[in-house]
Amino acid sequence: MASKPEKEQSVSTAKLVEMKQKGVKISSLTAYDAPTARLLNEAGVDVILVGDSVGMVKLGYENTLPVTLDEMLHHVKAVKRGNTRSLLVADMPYLTYELDLKETLRNAGRLIKEGGAHAVKIEGGLEIAGMVKELIKINIPVMGHLGLTPQALNRFGGYKVQGRKPQEAEKMLTDAKILEGAGAFALVLECVPPALAKEITRKLSIPTIGIGAGPHCDGQILVVDDMLGLSDGAPLKFVKRYADSRASMLKAVQAYCREVQAGSFPSAEHTFADAPKASDKLST
Ligand code: KIV
Repeated sequence: MASKPEKEQSVSTAKLVEMKQKGVKISSLTAYDAPTARLLNEAGVDVILVGDSVGMVKLGYENTLPVTLDEMLHHVKAVKRGNTRSLLVADMPYLTYELDLKETLRNAGRLIKEGGAHAVKIEGGLEIAGMVKELIKINIPVMGHLGLTPQALNRFGGYKVQGRKPQEAEKMLTDAKILEGAGAFALVLECVPPALAKEITRKLSIPTIGIGAGPHCDGQILVVDDMLGLSDGAPLKFVKRYADSRASMLKAVQAYCREVQAGSFPSAEHTFADAPKASDKLST
């Protein structure tokens, strides 16, 4: 049997732990489609997260709560088709992992088996530690998520920094240790004071990936549309816009509309010759 051409080795969960040990920072971004996954691979992003932020960023929901497993699967499969090298993590949407063990295992299993993700991410601490252990027993690596966990939006009463009060900070540190003990391979810390993120990072042997959690985490993650300037509205405090993509896309679409209305597009350059020519190819 002919062997398949070798694919570039994807970043593994073990590699992330090794990066922490060596003090090499981990870069992570979200992606929701194949071309973005290819772009992130080309740029050398270590971890791609298909976040349930897809609900707000791409599907027009007000928050992440309505996202379904089927919607996640649709986007995980697309990212999988574009991804060759990054560790691919899929978020488990609200109510797909909290209620029943068998259902949790089946849902996570679908993200791995049908979606092609390498790992899943779930939000919460002590209350989901049992699920983390059971997922790992069936060979599903788990990334944890503490701090501002958007699926708990209604309990928090809004998007607010978490862990500023001493008892909240203590609980987060305990939860982080519990998740590590349960076998999570990494932990997202979202909207956490930098001093607390630093302490959690120092006390864990697994990497922390921060978003709005300061510079001391082992890695950073942003929503790709936010950092590319694709999202409309003012960016959140922790988002750095590395490009102003929406503005340049808007300009391009406005120019197209103008040229179509003026009849200057398509010009001869973008029009086939009436008689066949050697140069008459579909691509330029
Ligand atoms: O859903 C998401 O995109 C996330 C990241 C921002 C961490 O959970």
